[in-house]
Amino acid sequence: MRTNIVHPGADELTYEIREIVAVGEELQALGVPICWENVGDPVAKGQVVPEWIKEIVSDLTKNDNSSYGYSPTRGVRATREFIADARNAEGGEQITPDDILFFNGLGDAIQTSFLYLHPRARILGPNPAYPTHSSAEAAHADAPHITYNLIPENGWQPDLLDIRNKVHYNPGISGILIINPDNPTGTVYSEETLRGIVQIAREYDLFMMSDEIYSQIVYGGEMIPLSKVLDGVPGIAMKGLSKEVPWPGARCGWIEVYNKDKDPVFARYIKTLVDAKMLEVCSTTLPQKALPKILGDSRYPAHLASVAEGYRKKSEIFSEVFRGVDVVIANKPLGAFYAAVVFKDGVLRHDQTLPIADIRVRTRIESLVPGMPNDKRFVYYLMASTGITVVPLSGMNSHREGFRLTLLEPDVAKFRHILETIVQSIQAYTTS
Ligand SMILES: Cc1ncc(COP(=O)(O)O)c(C=O)c1O
Repeated sequence: MRTNIVHPGADELTYEIREIVAVGEELQALGVPICWENVGDPVAKGQVVPEWIKEIVSDLTKNDNSSYGYSPTRGVRATREFIADARNAEGGEQITPDDILFFNGLGDAIQTSFLYLHPRARILGPNPAYPTHSSAEAAHADAPHITYNLIPENGWQPDLLDIRNKVHYNPGISGILIINPDNPTGTVYSEETLRGIVQIAREYDLFMMSDEIYSQIVYGGEMIPLSKVLDGVPGIAMKGLSKEVPWPGARCGWIEVYNKDKDPVFARYIKTLVDAKMLEVCSTTLPQKALPKILGDSRYPAHLASVAEGYRKKSEIFSEVFRGVDVVIANKPLGAFYAAVVFKDGVLRHDQTLPIADIRVRTRIESLVPGMPNDKRFVYYLMASTGITVVPLSGMNSHREGFRLTLLEPDVAKFRHILETIVQSIQAYTTS
C-alpha cells in the first residue's frame, strides 16, 4: 500500500472466545468430538425459546408492517418509554426515553462507546476482562487496556485499593467499567463494593460504565443495578436481549444514561454517540418492537426464574465437582452463566501434557503450544485430549492463569460428566 492503511490499534483486537474455534474445527476434522464450552450463546447450546415468545415475534412479522421499517435513531419511542417507566419504578436515578439509545446488540454499543471517546481518555476495566470491552478500549487508545484485579480468593470481588491506585496514578482514566453479573467470573458485586467504586468515580470526577446484560440471570446474592448506587455520578448502564430472552441473533442492546445533566463534557460525549447512530440511521427494529411485549408479559418473570434456577443447579454441581481440587480456585458462580477456574500460582509449567491418542492430533497440538501462555497450553491439551473447549483466562487480559467454562449445557448428566472430565484432566496434567 502507498500508505499504511492499518489502524494503529489493530493489534489490540483479539477475541479468544471465537479464535479457539478455528483450532477446534481443525481437530474436529481430524476426528476429535469437540464439545463447545467457549461461546456464551444459550440458543447454540440448546436452550429453546418459549413458544409464547416466538408467537409474539411471529405476530409482529405478520401483522406489524412497521417492524420491517427503520426506527427512530434513538430507538422505537414506545419501547424507550416502556424501559424508562420500568427503570423509574425501581427507584434510583430517574431517566426519560431520551436517555436511552438502542444499538445492534450490546457489542455494537461497546464498540461505538469506545470508538467515540477522546483517544486519550481511558476506561479502567476488570481483569479478567470480557474481550469485547478490553479490545475495543485498547484499540481506541492504541495502548494496552488498563485493568483492576478481581480477586479469586475473595469471591472475585474487585480490589478497591487497586482501582484507587490505578485511577490516582493514571490521569487519563476518565471512567470505570464494571460487568455485573460478571463475564467471565460469574460474580455479582455486593452493594458495598459498588458504592466503593462509585465513591472513587465521584472523588476523581469520572463516569461509570456498567455492563448489565446478565442483570436478569442471578441465582446467588442480589444484583444491584448501577442506577441505584450512582447518587448523582454520571453513568451508563448497558443492557440487551441476547442472554435473558435469549435472543442473541436479534442484535438488540441499549444504553441507559444517568445524570447526563450533571456534567457538560459527559453530555457532549453522549450526544456524540447519538450523532454516530444517526449517521448509521438506526438499530434493528423488530426486536425493539417485541421488547415491551416480551418483557412486559405476565409469563416473563416465571420464564426468567426457571432459567435462573437451571443455572443455580448447575452452579451447585460445579461447586461440588471442583470441591477438594486443591490446585485450583473455583468459586461458585452467582450470576450470568460462566464459571472461571484459576490455577494456583506455580501449578502450571510449560512442559506438562495430557495423553493424545491420535498421532496427527498430537503432532498438530505440539506444533501450536510452544511459547503459549501456560493456561492456553492447558486448554489446548484439554481440547485435543477430551474435545472439551474452554477459554483460557490469558485470552481475557487476566493476571491469573485459568480458564472459563459455561453453565449452558442443558443435559445435566452431560454437564456433570464434562466437569468431571475437566477435573480428571487437571489432575493428570498437573502431575504429568
Ligand atoms: C458481558 C457482555 N457484554 C456484552 C455482550 C455482547 O452482547 P450482544 O449479543 O448484545 O452483542 C456479551 C456477550 O457475550 C457479554 O458477555
